[in-house]
Amino acid sequence: MINAVSIGIHDIAFATTHYVLDLDDLARHRGVDPAKYHLGLGQDAMSIPAADEDIVTMAAAAAAPILQLHGTDNLRTVLLATETAVDQSKAAALYLHPLLNLPSTTRIVELKQACYAATAALQFAIGLITRNPADQVLIIAADIARYDLDSPGEPTQGAAAVAMLVTADPAILQLDSPSGVYSDDIMDFWRPNHRSTAVVDGELSVRTYLTATSQAWADYRNNGGRQLDEFSAFCYHLPYTAMARKAHKHLLETLGIEWPNDRIAAVVDAGTRYNRTIGNSYTASLYLSLLSLLDHSSELSGRAVAFFSYGSGCVSECFSGTIRPGYRQHLRTADNQHQIAARTPISYPRYRAVHTEHANPCIADCYFDQDTAGPYRLTEIVNDKRRYQKI
Ligand code: HMG
Repeated sequence: MINAVSIGIHDIAFATTHYVLDLDDLARHRGVDPAKYHLGLGQDAMSIPAADEDIVTMAAAAAAPILQLHGTDNLRTVLLATETAVDQSKAAALYLHPLLNLPSTTRIVELKQACYAATAALQFAIGLITRNPADQVLIIAADIARYDLDSPGEPTQGAAAVAMLVTADPAILQLDSPSGVYSDDIMDFWRPNHRSTAVVDGELSVRTYLTATSQAWADYRNNGGRQLDEFSAFCYHLPYTAMARKAHKHLLETLGIEWPNDRIAAVVDAGTRYNRTIGNSYTASLYLSLLSLLDHSSELSGRAVAFFSYGSGCVSECFSGTIRPGYRQHLRTADNQHQIAARTPISYPRYRAVHTEHANPCIADCYFDQDTAGPYRLTEIVNDKRRYQKI
């Protein structure tokens, strides 16, 4: 079953940070076997923001190429999903107005529910476009995953923004109507207002993620979703990439199905390659996995893909879509790969210094020296007003 109006992702782009920390460096300094990070967690590196980068600079960099290509004539809504908010009241996407020349005739909102919020944005966009198929919705998922130094979560940090233009008659991915959801009040991962790093019960978070995945799948099927063997690929929310195989194995077990490891790898691994080097990007992570799948798979036209979104706390959603014929012409594979390769390696001492700077937010006036080589930067916070600059 598909939507009466074909709705989905017409364009998708991403941005990450100026710096990258190699997890071999982290392992050496923490006295950990690097295999734990590479094999146990499935992570090789993590993106680290420069002192003058935040979710707004990443969001602007991700959205700019989409707006340059498609213009803003039909853009009616911008939904920015994040759990790294820069203000308790003002929506972060409003800072994009001058940076991206957004029209004043757009509604702009920020959404929060841990890593899940971008999927809520996608569902809301479908509703808006169903009402008026000429409208376009820009979704930006932007986050910086930050845990305490020396904590178990430290090697799973990262940062990225993914921007998606959602339209009728999309060029890349057409979304199906059925969707399965699961929610519960769980204290597995959260970040109280006074903290810049997350509080996490790691073992509970993994257990809850797995339960939520199989429950969301059950609800998806109960609502008329496709059968498992209809899918060519599965994209999972990736706090670390080993989670994709673990979650898929768990899903199969709950369905009484047994697959060898290489069959599981064949349907999940292409969707993990970017995340392996970027780290967790919270709301952006599932959509970074979609980008990774599109950029690393052989022809997917007409193939069905399943998506599992998970946000701690917790809300989970399973949904699906079909890759559109000719989608490859609309990808930015070379730009995506260049962006990852262009990051500047950061030394371990500098990483710890930047982490501490970010963990102590500016409470008096702050001026930021230029640190990033990216296209947008935070220049100052004066009288609690943030100012950004297009470089
Ligand atoms: P930990 O205690 O460091 O790791 O924390 P571990 O001891 O459980 O080891 C991890 C894996 O590495 C294990 O494999 C080990 O066997 C393996 P598994 O049992 O999982 O298959 N291992 C090795 N493998 C090869 N060679 C070795 C070796 N040593 C060990 N030498 C934990 C892991 C994930 C708990 C930690 O990183 C953490 O707290 N992370 C943050 C929370 C998190 O990512 N939770 C995931 C689910 S919740 C979620 O996804 C939501 C989230 O994105 C937030 C949001 O929604 O906003 C986090």
